[in-house]
This record gives sequence, structure tokens and C-alpha cells, in this order.
Amino acid sequence: MSKGKLEKFAEMETFRNVFQYPFSIIDNVPFDMKGHWNQDFFKNDNPIVLELGCGKGEYTVELAKLYPNVNFVGVDIKGARMWTGAKKAIEANLENVAFLRTNIEIIDRFFDIDEVEEIWLTFSDPQMKNAHKRLTSTFFMDRYRHFLVDKGIIHLKTDSNFLFTYTKYMVDVNKLPVLICTEDLYHDNLDSDTRKILSIQTYYESMWIERGLNIKYMKFKLPRKAELNEPDIEIPLDDYRSYHRPKRSGSETGK
Ligand SMILES: C[S@@+](CC[C@H](N)C(=O)[O-])C[C@H]1O[C@@H](n2cnc3c(N)ncnc32)[C@H](O)[C@@H]1O
Repeated sequence: MSKGKLEKFAEMETFRNVFQYPFSIIDNVPFDMKGHWNQDFFKNDNPIVLELGCGKGEYTVELAKLYPNVNFVGVDIKGARMWTGAKKAIEANLENVAFLRTNIEIIDRFFDIDEVEEIWLTFSDPQMKNAHKRLTSTFFMDRYRHFLVDKGIIHLKTDSNFLFTYTKYMVDVNKLPVLICTEDLYHDNLDSDTRKILSIQTYYESMWIERGLNIKYMKFKLPRKAELNEPDIEIPLDDYRSYHRPKRSGSETGK
């Protein structure tokens, strides 16, 4: 491991806005703040918004600056990336920001029913071979329903045609109410508030924009009632993701 990473990990241990509970730890230690984030950490009654797979936490930090009366929690398993956002939040004295280092598969162990109002999914890995790992799959939607308010909002911002198409089918099959859907957000007409929010750019987003890819965005509601069905449809794979990598299979589509 590089020295830079070790130093970041050591510094993260001292950050008051970082909570580290990967799989290996949380099995033995229950998370006492579940259901009490506002009371114990944020010290207010403001709504809580999550960024799942936050990487360096650009959305978490920049949204927190735009909306001081909303509390933001960035979640990722990669500590060295999260360090960047946590450090920025501390340096900017942002009291409405926290970071949780854990596996999103167990996210429902950290938040209680109705504790979260909205979820941002920013440039999530499309997981073209495995729907169970896809953050917009019904497997994850069911997890989110444990703590998201009824009809809570999910935002998906992505370069991936595969993930976007899959999510559109998932939303359509389950009749989830769509609020905004654009396949080219920098060229479509959007209201000024939405545009301001969407102009925040993440690390991965800037890489994909440099490659000339359109950025897509969807905002939909997740009602708590009704069973969710996985879409059963073949979707063309994103070919640009296999640059510099040998193809794992000869398949051109995935479910
Ligand atoms: C492609 S990166 C995007 C990072 C950031 N949102 C951005 O746009 O720059 C995906 C991130 O999601 C995290 N991630 C993916 N699956 C995860 C999981 N199951 N649990 C925790 N983190 C996960 C990865 O560690 C990575 O930082």
C-alpha cells in the first residue's frame, strides 16, 4: 500500500465526521447511531440525504454547501477516496456532512425506518454482469426501502448507457413515478435549480466528459408498498468500459 494511502487512513481515524464500519467490523459491533443520526451527530431535525458510492464525495460536500439545512452522508468502501471529501468538509467547517465507510450491501444496518429522504447514486459501477451488485437493482431498492421515507427520491447520474437503460426498465416495470429523465443533461432544458445541482461534477464524471460521453440523469420516487420485480431484458453492454481490459466473455448484451 502506498505511503499516501496509509497516511490518509491514519488521518481518517481522527476525523470526527467519518464513521468506519466495513463488513468485518459491523458483524461484531452494532451501530448505535442507527435511527439517531440527527440527535447524536447532526444535532438538528433536518432531512438526511445519502450519496451511495460517493468516491471523493463531491456531491456530498457541494450539496451540503448549497443546502445548509439538509444533512448529507457520503457512503463508500474506499477510504482513500473518502478522505478527500471528509477533509474538504472539515476545512470548510461543514457541520451538515458525514461520511460512512462501509459496504452498501449492508446499508440498512446504519439507518432506521424513515430516517433518509433522498439518495444520490453518482456514476455507480454499472455491474453489467451481475444485477445483484447494481445499485439501482430491485435488490438494492428493497434495501433502501428499509430506511427511505415512503416515496423518497432516488437520483441517478451516470455516463453508462447500460445502467441508465436498465434503470429505466426497472422503473418502468415497477411503475415508479419519474420526475426527471434526460439522456443528455448538459444539452437538455432543465429548470435553474436542477441545473445548478447537476452542474456539480464528480471525479468520474469529468473523466467520462473528457471522453465525449453524454451524461444522463434520472430522478424518481420509490414508494414503499408493492413487491418489486426485476426487469428481464437484454441490454447492449457499454463497449467503452472494456478499453485496456481483456473481454471477460464474448457477450455483447447483459441483463
Ligand atoms: C465509479 S466510482 C464513482 C465515484 C464517485 N461517485 C464519482 O462519481 O467520482 C464508484 C464508487 O462506488 C463505490 N462502491 C461501489 N460498490 C460499492 C459497494 N457495494 N459498497 C461500497 N462502495 C461501493 C466504489 O468504491 C467507488 O468509489
